[in-house]
Amino acid sequence: MNTVLEIIKKRRSIRVYEPDQIKKEELDNIIEAALWAPCAGNRQAVKIVVVQNQDLNSQLGKINRDIFGPARNPQKGVVNIANDSQIVSAFYKAPTVIYLFAPDNYPNAIQDCCVTAQNIMLEATELNIGSIYIARGEETFKSELGKACMAKWGLDESYQCHSIIPIGYIKKHGMVHDRKENRVIMDE
Ligand SMILES: Cc1cc2nc3c(=O)[nH]c(=O)nc-3n(C[C@H](O)[C@H](O)[C@H](O)COP(=O)(O)O)c2cc1C
Repeated sequence: MNTVLEIIKKRRSIRVYEPDQIKKEELDNIIEAALWAPCAGNRQAVKIVVVQNQDLNSQLGKINRDIFGPARNPQKGVVNIANDSQIVSAFYKAPTVIYLFAPDNYPNAIQDCCVTAQNIMLEATELNIGSIYIARGEETFKSELGKACMAKWGLDESYQCHSIIPIGYIKKHGMVHDRKENRVIMDE
């Protein structure tokens, strides 16, 4: 049994996934973790959209990648959209992508999505499933395809996608970064 701290420290951003889909029981646990995230004023307003349609995830991932633009710091062998312009989808071909939306009619919509995202990533880690937080959800769903998806999913224009979490079995583990110093300020 891993402690919460062990799971927190074990989680890494995963950018290379096995193509096979995760098991339904695993996905169910991850969704349950998402549903139990804290939320401002107990609104429980976050909508959790799970997409396992590879073609749709590829198209949305390409839109997200194009919004990011070409690699800014090209480095051979580093799998990251910031380092490799050859990566076509910003979702790194993960077989499941979870999109978190919240309506823009209250001040903590972004925070609600972020804490939900963290629950998803930690539960995935507990199950030895890789995950990564992807930015630019808002702009991705301003595209024509994004708007069409939202209409299909019953999300009106007040909803914004604040977090995107691709998940899947890990093909290549993420690098462990040392913790920077002087980030804790104690005032006793
Ligand atoms: C708000 C946020 C946005 C991020 N956006 C991206 C992204 O768009 N693409 C990506 O490859 N990684 C993204 N990441 C992952 C970070 O690059 C990663 O968390 C960081 O390098 C530390 O590595 P670790 O998660 O393995 O500890 C994002 C992380 C956060 C928290």
